[in-house]
Amino acid sequence: MAEPIILLTEQEIQAKLDQLAAQVLADYGNEEILLVGVLKGSLYVVADLSRRLGPNVKIDFVQVSSYGLEAKSSGIVQIRKDLDTSIEGRHVLVVEDIVDTGATLAHLRELLNTRRPASLKVLALLSKPDARLTEVPIEYVGFEIPNRFVVGYGLDYAERYRNQAFISVLSAEHLS
Ligand code: IMP
Repeated sequence: MAEPIILLTEQEIQAKLDQLAAQVLADYGNEEILLVGVLKGSLYVVADLSRRLGPNVKIDFVQVSSYGLEAKSSGIVQIRKDLDTSIEGRHVLVVEDIVDTGATLAHLRELLNTRRPASLKVLALLSKPDARLTEVPIEYVGFEIPNRFVVGYGLDYAERYRNQAFISVLSAEHLS
């Protein structure tokens, strides 16, 4: 099997999380933040980011699925697991692994805004601007990447590769 084509190393990802956490802390000051991780891809971002944010942080998760087992968007967005807590009057920071077409995030922003949070922002580790079909605001972006299918650091292909500490490009050979 060929070596993976590494796009972002573990060190690059962790250094970016230091920067993102510093920005978030500077922006929110002493306000309590509710991190809303979008399962399953954001699991490592939530874990590593939250540990950099100190004691004023709570964590909840939502699962929104737009992809089946395929490496392509179906355009259908469903809530598979809702939040456990009310977000009314709270400062919500949605944590995404990647924003691709933007459909999932646009839908989620709309849904969460109907629940009247005090504020709603989004942090995405990765963004593929060239793949965007729905324009959607992302307040904190880790890396803008080319329009390629990537895996690792939470991102999967058919549930594999999530546990890689680095992010690599899925090559044709891995699809077989
Ligand atoms: P969007 O609705 O097209 O923006 O897709 C968002 C979701 O699709 C992400 O949260 C991922 O779960 C998945 N996704 C999009 N691009 C990739 C990729 O390159 N690798 C793995 N999953 C991806």
